[in-house]
Amino acid sequence: MFRLTSCTALAVSLTVSLALALAGSADAANATTTTRGPAVFTAPTAFPTSLFASMQWVPQSQEGQPQPFVRPHDSSAFPETITNPNALPTAPPESEAVMPKPSAAAHAAVKDKNAFRAAALKNITGIIDDKSKSKCSRCISALRVGQHVARAEPELVPGLLVDLCKRYKYQDKPDVKTACEKMYQRSVWGGPYAQVLSFADFSHGAPDAQNICALALEDSFCDVPEMDVLSDEFLDKWFNGQRTEPKHVTKRSRKTGETRKRPLRVLHLSDIHVDPRYAVGGEVDCDSGQCCRSNSWSADKWDGSPFAPGDLPKANLSKAAGYWGSAKCDSPWALVGSAMQALQHIEGADPIELGVFTGDLATHDRDWQVSRDLVKYAEIALYTLLKDTLGNMTMVVTLGNHDTAPADFFAPHNLPDGLGDQMSWNWDTVAQTLESVGWVNSTDADKVRKHFGGYSTSPRKGLRVISLNGDYYFRENPFAYVHLANPDFSGQLRWLTDELQAAEDAHERVWIISHEETGYSGEDALDNPTNLINHIITRYASTIAHIFFGHTHEDQFQVFYSATSGNSTAVSRKTEDAVAAALMGPSVSPGRYVNPGVRVYVVDPQTYEVLDYDQYYTQLDEFDDELKNAAHGPVWHKLYNARATYGNLSASEAAGTYRAPVQLDNGWWPKDAPLNASFWAALTDEMEQRPELVTLHSIYQARNSKKTVVCDSDECVKATICYMRSGTSALGRACQSGFGSVVN
Ligand SMILES: *[C@@H]1O[C@H](CO)[C@@H](O)[C@H](O)[C@H]1NC(C)=O
Ligand SMILES: *[C@@H]1O[C@H](CO)[C@@H](O)[C@H](O)[C@H]1NC(C)=O
Ligand SMILES: *[C@@H]1O[C@H](CO)[C@@H](O)[C@H](O)[C@H]1NC(C)=O
Ligand SMILES: *[C@@H]1O[C@H](CO)[C@@H](O)[C@H](O)[C@H]1NC(C)=O
Ligand SMILES: *[C@@H]1O[C@H](CO)[C@@H](O)[C@H](O)[C@H]1NC(C)=O
Ligand SMILES: *[C@@H]1O[C@H](CO)[C@@H](O)[C@H](O)[C@H]1NC(C)=O
Ligand SMILES: *[C@@H]1O[C@H](CO)[C@@H](O)[C@H](O)[C@H]1NC(C)=O
Ligand SMILES: *[C@@H]1O[C@H](CO)[C@@H](O)[C@H](O)[C@H]1NC(C)=O
Repeated sequence: MFRLTSCTALAVSLTVSLALALAGSADAANATTTTRGPAVFTAPTAFPTSLFASMQWVPQSQEGQPQPFVRPHDSSAFPETITNPNALPTAPPESEAVMPKPSAAAHAAVKDKNAFRAAALKNITGIIDDKSKSKCSRCISALRVGQHVARAEPELVPGLLVDLCKRYKYQDKPDVKTACEKMYQRSVWGGPYAQVLSFADFSHGAPDAQNICALALEDSFCDVPEMDVLSDEFLDKWFNGQRTEPKHVTKRSRKTGETRKRPLRVLHLSDIHVDPRYAVGGEVDCDSGQCCRSNSWSADKWDGSPFAPGDLPKANLSKAAGYWGSAKCDSPWALVGSAMQALQHIEGADPIELGVFTGDLATHDRDWQVSRDLVKYAEIALYTLLKDTLGNMTMVVTLGNHDTAPADFFAPHNLPDGLGDQMSWNWDTVAQTLESVGWVNSTDADKVRKHFGGYSTSPRKGLRVISLNGDYYFRENPFAYVHLANPDFSGQLRWLTDELQAAEDAHERVWIISHEETGYSGEDALDNPTNLINHIITRYASTIAHIFFGHTHEDQFQVFYSATSGNSTAVSRKTEDAVAAALMGPSVSPGRYVNPGVRVYVVDPQTYEVLDYDQYYTQLDEFDDELKNAAHGPVWHKLYNARATYGNLSASEAAGTYRAPVQLDNGWWPKDAPLNASFWAALTDEMEQRPELVTLHSIYQARNSKKTVVCDSDECVKATICYMRSGTSALGRACQSGFGSVVN
């Protein structure tokens, strides 16, 4: 997912003038045609049904979306509301509600439940309406009353939240009453919020309440509290007394894989977000939640009165969703099918032998239309499809914030009263699916159940891939705020550290994959956990070969610098101190105005370091013009090659600001040096000399999207370079905000 930022201005004209500058030719009128490489694959119009065991429905002529048969593991059937575009769900099953148990003492003190409820509502509204107090202190006080209710009478919480939502209009789509009643019911946000209220630490001095009020609610009521610095005692204990890398580790060979000449080609996919309810002909520019649905409508063309799904008159549509996908919506099956075919036809003599998928299989939706079945459907359908597309090849996968129900809510294991098991429906589905497609054995599958959907596996000799569930440091996971004074309440970072230690001991190289980026513009992660992550990455820098993220849908990277003091905000951000780099893989979903992308890395088979990559994409925002009545489907292009685009570091060399520990080859990063942290850090130095590289990066960021606001002002260039040098959220937030996304 992505947060909305302030820049929404269209920049087609800017894009065009920039393209002119880049191409140096007056008749190359469009950015989109001047900044991409050759076509690599043209999809046929027919859906690749052979990639599926069987089809539930295949359209005659693109009048609707193909529907593959997808079965849950118990061989029953998914409900019709998961895949029938005209039978949308109205609520998740009530059985999916998970409520906390009351505390005995608080519960016993309640004599009259109705009077207690009325008093609580009065208390909270009294607090919220008391304008003599600051917004922040009102928010914290209201949370404390909420906690009292959640501990005494948890079942009252959802209803109270509905009342507050209606009174203060927290939700208003399609209208306040419907949205509030649906969103805060027990099986949607009511249950999880009751748990968070019950379990968080709202005592004075604890950071939970202030962080929730600053970052987790509809509005920002408090300043973000200062990040906690890790003490020497904490770090000594965390790293078992060995806080820096042992000499024998930094000095030893980084080669751990098999000896061979042929490079390893590795696929990076992210954020597919398949929408099995995508309705061809549905409203694209909708004001009604998820667009391209049979019930979507645009306020410009329709007054909002109810209509039967699919019955909106054509004259009352702003823009009808096309068969191949639409720039504001998630991926229809037709687009996913074309992406799979493109993967099978990507150029290159060497086979693709390994893949990483950095999360988000399921579609965006209003949370009351999300259910466990919707997520299980996406997990089973897409993992199986990838296996059937790619054949004999392992993908290592990670869960995204949309791969759960309700979206964003991932509870840790250490909640009391048996609630630590509430996500097992998800871990079990993932473990079973990964094992059935042969990507993990039963030992590794058990790790999925134990480590929040995360696991570690060794898909090749000398390589360990550690897959984290990034939701435990994600700003929009309300459970991530429970006991935030502990940077690792879930225990996942302890497990990460132990896995890294085991890899160091076994002389393995490691890739870390996770959905949410830890830093960049600082909008998505929490400070305390990402501070600890920066220290862990510093400690195991020679073992970690690379890091891969997804989530933002945009093509970005971030560099981690050496952190040892307990305060990662104090890192030098100098290229000689770069310790690791993370690449954010572009989404397959067009999501919010990005064009679908897939990436292939060229990797050193011995060191597992990335040597280069090719980025591919399809210009979905031209489909309407190009594919209407065409005898073919989407055309997939190469967008750019990493080394050819970014490998020229001669300007910083000439300016004397080049600082990487590598001798350039005629101004270029040498062919035998990997695109490692030193490279990406040095690139930011080059960008300071050549701001036009940041501008080009911004065009690639959303893959030539027509909605791209190109980054060419001094302010944007400076902020973007600052984001690239931010491994943690606190670092990213200290940069000028508002330039994280180029399309929002
Ligand atoms: C540029 O885009 C416009 C509108 O999409 C199209 O009509 C025109 O042919 C394009 N020009 C070039 C040179 O591709
Ligand atoms: C309401 O507020 C009063 C005074 O602050 C407090 O004593 C009481 O426990 C509160 N009641 C509830 C239900 O929160
Ligand atoms: C549908 O569009 C027509 C023509 O623009 C308009 O007159 C009518 O009010 C619209 N219907 C609704 C229910 O908004
Ligand atoms: C699959 O790959 C493995 C390891 O690369 C190889 O040993 C095996 O023979 C392959 N199987 C098939 C059917 O290609
Ligand atoms: C399972 O796979 C891992 C590699 O990730 C390997 O180390 C382990 O030996 C395998 N276990 C079994 C029982 O085959
Ligand atoms: C951490 O470092 C930053 C940057 O040097 C500094 O502004 C901040 O005050 C430090 N935090 C603490 C608690 O020392
Ligand atoms: C490398 O960049 C410099 C600007 O620093 C430019 O003059 C030179 O032409 C570039 N080299 C190539 C091969 O593009
Ligand atoms: C990156 O690779 C170069 C060349 O192998 C090496 O000198 C440098 O130390 C590496 N940087 C990091 C951070 O590992």
